[in-house]
Amino acid sequence: MDRVDLEDGARKILLSNLRQGVADWNGCEYRFVCPSLTGYPFQWFWDSCFHAIALLHLDMDQAKAELRTLMSGALPNGFMPHIIFWEMEKQPDFLSRNIVGQAGDPHYSSTIQPPIIAYAVERVYRATGDEEFRNEALPVLVNFYRWLRQVRDPDRDGLIAVIQPEEAGTDCSPKYDAALGLTDLSNHGFIAALGKIYDAYEPHRGDDQKILELDLFHFEDVLVNSIYGMGMRSLARLLGDSPEADEFNREADRTTGALLAKCWDEEAGAFFDLSGVAENPVKVTTISSLMPLILDDLPRSIVERLIEDWVSSPQHFWTPYPLPSVPVSDSKFMPGNPGGFIWRGPSWMNTNWFLSHALRRHGYLELADTIVTKSHECIERSGFREYYHPYTAEGLGARDFGWSTLILDM
Ligand code: GLC
Repeated sequence: MDRVDLEDGARKILLSNLRQGVADWNGCEYRFVCPSLTGYPFQWFWDSCFHAIALLHLDMDQAKAELRTLMSGALPNGFMPHIIFWEMEKQPDFLSRNIVGQAGDPHYSSTIQPPIIAYAVERVYRATGDEEFRNEALPVLVNFYRWLRQVRDPDRDGLIAVIQPEEAGTDCSPKYDAALGLTDLSNHGFIAALGKIYDAYEPHRGDDQKILELDLFHFEDVLVNSIYGMGMRSLARLLGDSPEADEFNREADRTTGALLAKCWDEEAGAFFDLSGVAENPVKVTTISSLMPLILDDLPRSIVERLIEDWVSSPQHFWTPYPLPSVPVSDSKFMPGNPGGFIWRGPSWMNTNWFLSHALRRHGYLELADTIVTKSHECIERSGFREYYHPYTAEGLGARDFGWSTLILDM
């Protein structure tokens, strides 16, 4: 598949998944790409950021519209939702099939997703040079990253906490099994375990401080915090020379410092999440353990250990179609069709996008190129799917999946 075919394929998906109109509930014009017409018909936070980045290669106006639509969902206190339910009336049964945390307003979730938005805005701004776009985005971004710090970092250590697994975007990852008390290792078991947490949260939805105090699911997640740090660096660059830029650079330093001080495990040579207010390290290696590689200020010795011991090791992440979401060495590694029990083995395009760029920046050009070539092969063989079998490149999960078009930016 040459570049033209790849772009044609991506364009087809991004156009057919396009949703636009004027919402009757807030009067806002919306124009965004939904992740998939079948399973995910609304606007998901980090998906939209990935779509905007892919769209930079096809349609800059749509890239801006994607992020403007996402930012129009920000609340005055800074919070930005994980899902915005534009055109809910066309999908009335979605909420009967899925559980979503909501606090009163049925048009958006009261949960977050990995805060990659400042990076996406920075990319769109750099590609378009559109000052108006940057000026519109800045107050939303400043409020959002401050909200994360003020509300989601109750112990003020520089690491923000998620209150349920879907907030990290890696829903059923085995790293959450113990915290969820998961014994039935299936999607059904996962939903049942999650349901208990939802029930306990129900009276407090929207009051994240209270929810964090309940200490039922309180994860200082390595993937989320790596992206949080990366986002704050972008925000600081977007802000230019200013006290606010200093504020976010300082906070990004604190996040890297805390990841190193609290999440890095010297013996295992990997980063682990911290569970609960007590911050117990969750010693399960997943793709998330590698994500601090996206931080440019990671010490060289740690970069080398992560890449040499884990990424490029066939016993762990170096499968024929890397990088699996769980290393093959883990007893819970599940490479095939998981029946909705996701993030437990297959390779995903968004983590390949993050990590191929990270590897390149750290000087591992050949490994980065191989990840890109293999990702390309997955799409050539199986189309733009939600995730891929790490041994065969078989396409799995949703079809015509938006963020797999990130291949255009790899
Ligand atoms: C799944 C993924 C999540 C993604 C959503 C929409 O829930 O785990 O990361 O945002 O689908 O694509």
